[in-house]
Amino acid sequence: MGIIVVNTKAYKEGIGKNAIELAKIMEKVGNEYGVDMAIAVQPSDVATVANNTSIDVFSQHIDAIDYGSYTGWISPYAVKEAGAKGSLINHSEHRMKIEDISKAIKIAKKIGLEIIACASNVDVTKAIACLNPDYVAVEPPELIGGDISVTKAKPSIVKNAVSTVKKINSEVKVLCGAGIKSGEDVAKAIELGTVGVLVASGVVKAKNKEKVLEEMAKAIK
Ligand code: G3P
Repeated sequence: MGIIVVNTKAYKEGIGKNAIELAKIMEKVGNEYGVDMAIAVQPSDVATVANNTSIDVFSQHIDAIDYGSYTGWISPYAVKEAGAKGSLINHSEHRMKIEDISKAIKIAKKIGLEIIACASNVDVTKAIACLNPDYVAVEPPELIGGDISVTKAKPSIVKNAVSTVKKINSEVKVLCGAGIKSGEDVAKAIELGTVGVLVASGVVKAKNKEKVLEEMAKAIK
């Protein structure tokens, strides 16, 4: 089954009550179309969103830390206990050192959190696939938040990411993101070999979120 992951970033439309509202719309559309939906929210919103919907809730980040003296860092254990299914890590807007990506994935595996690790290009995708996350999401930074989808502007990056990951670690599922706005973009992502998309502004900032999600869900089936 295909998956649509919506990253709410720190958009006003995706924080607090708005995050719950969006997650409920995603739940409805996901059930209607039989498509997996996951929402990546601010770590502080994980508990409230997880308590109010049945879709998978991801933290937008975790730090590679164990229990201990880490004031202000995002604990994998805390987001797990708050109800997170997993975490995004290494987003272009919150990059991590390779050692920390590796450690965060190990801790996540140990405690049963799924990891979507972002990669800015094919080489980084390759490196991250070796670290065995559940998903790698390839997102060219220059297309993030724009109107031209990665599937239109750089389909070869998506295609090469998929074939590279297949060769290195076929257990890792590939997503793509950046500029995804329509059902057509989602259909193309699937055609290029991904299992789904990682999308933010195209859904979070849409006037009619349900309509956009329906269009994307139809395209992913
Ligand atoms: O994490 C997804 C994000 O970086 C893509 O953003 O607004 O281009 O869908 P956007």
